[in-house]
Amino acid sequence: MTKVFPQITAHGGTLINRQLTGDARQAAIERANGLERIILSDLNVADLEMIAIGALSPLTGFMRQADYTSVVHNMRLANGLPWTIPVTLAVSAEQGDRIKIGQSLALVEPTEGGERLLAILDVSEKYTYDREVEAQNVYRTTEEKHPGVARLYKQGEVLLAGSVDVIDLPLRAQTEFAELRYTPAQTRAIFAERGWRRIVGFQTRNPIHRAHEYIQKTALEIVDGLLLHPLVGETKSDDIPAAVRVESYQAILSSYYPASRVLLGVFPAAMRYAGPREAIFHAMARKNYGCTHFIVGRDHAGVGSYYGTYDAHLIFDEFTPEELGITPLFFEHTFYCKACGQVVSLKTCPHDKSQHVVLSGTQVREKLSRGELLPEEFTRPEVSRVLMRGMR
Ligand code: ADX
Repeated sequence: MTKVFPQITAHGGTLINRQLTGDARQAAIERANGLERIILSDLNVADLEMIAIGALSPLTGFMRQADYTSVVHNMRLANGLPWTIPVTLAVSAEQGDRIKIGQSLALVEPTEGGERLLAILDVSEKYTYDREVEAQNVYRTTEEKHPGVARLYKQGEVLLAGSVDVIDLPLRAQTEFAELRYTPAQTRAIFAERGWRRIVGFQTRNPIHRAHEYIQKTALEIVDGLLLHPLVGETKSDDIPAAVRVESYQAILSSYYPASRVLLGVFPAAMRYAGPREAIFHAMARKNYGCTHFIVGRDHAGVGSYYGTYDAHLIFDEFTPEELGITPLFFEHTFYCKACGQVVSLKTCPHDKSQHVVLSGTQVREKLSRGELLPEEFTRPEVSRVLMRGMR
C-alpha cells in the first residue's frame, strides 16, 4: 500500500473552492437574471478561474481596499500574509457611481455570440486607487511601454471588492487544454496517488528549450516529482501562443521525461510581467497546487530590461521561509557550452563566451522564418519543428 504523506498547506491555511454546484448553482443562475452585469476583461476572467479553483487561496474574491493597499505598499495582505500582486476588478467611474455597496452583480465573459454568465459578486466595498502608485510599486516603473503597466492604465477608475460565487468556469476551461487543466485539488490528489512528497513546480510562458530542461531536471534530482506548469492565460502579443508552448512540451515529454516523475498541467493565469513580485505570486499559486519547491531562474516573469537578472531571487529575502512555506530553487542563467559538452552556467563553466550557445528571441525568430531548425544545443529538433509550424 502507498504510504500517504501530509501535503503542504494551502497559502493562508485552507484551499479555497468558490465553485457552486447542484441546487445552490441553480439558484444562483436564477438570481443572476435580475442583476446588473459586469463584462470581465481577459485578465479578470483568468483571475476568476484561479479564485474559483483555489489557485489564489486564501482569496475568495476581488481584493478589498485594506488588502489592496497593503499588497501594493507592503507585499502582504492586511493580515500580514505574503501577497505581492493586486487581484482586483476595475470598472468605469460611471459604473462605479451606479453600483451600491451590498449590491450583487452578475460577472459575465464576452463570447462570440454575446455573453456568458460566470459568477455572482457580492459587492462589499468600492474604492478609487492611484494607478501610478500601483505601477511604481508592483512593476517598478510607470512607463506605459511596460505591458503590465499599459494594461493597468487602460482599466477603469473604480475597484469593486467582494467574494465571488462561481456558476461556471470560463468557456476556455472547456475548449483550451481541458485535459491538462488540473485544479489544485486534482494536482494534490495526483501527487498523493503517486506517493510524491516533495514536488517542484515550473512556471513558463515560453516553449521549452535546453536551459529549461536542464534546470527542471536538475531540480528533479533532489525532489520526487516535477509539475510542468506552462501559463495559458493572456500574454503580450509577441509572446509565443499558448497552444505552441504546450505543444512544445507534448512533443518531447514521452521521449525525454520519465512519466512516473513528471506531470504536465496548465496554469490558467494571465501574465503580468511584474518580474520579482510575480515570482512570489507564481510561487504562492504553485504552493496551492501542492508544490513544495519552485524554480526561479533568470529574470523570472521579466520583460525588456525592467528588472535585474536576479531581482526575482532577491525578493525572496523579504519574507521568512516559514511564511512562504514553499522553497524556492534558484538557478543562474544557463546555456549550452561546446567545450563542456553540456548545459552549464557561469557558476559551473570555466570557458569563455565563444564556447557558449546563446540565442536571442530575435535570432530564434529569424532562423525559424528562414526555415532553419534551431541549433540542437539550444533546443531539441522536435521542438524546433513545433515552432516552425507555429510560425506558419
Ligand atoms: S517566465 O516569464 O515564465 O519566467 P520563461 O518561460 O522564459 O519566462 O522562464 C521560465 C522559468 O525558467 C523562469 O523561472 C525563468 O527564470 C527560467 N529561465 C528561463 N530561461 C532560463 C535560462 N536560460 N537560464 C536559467 N533560467 C531560465
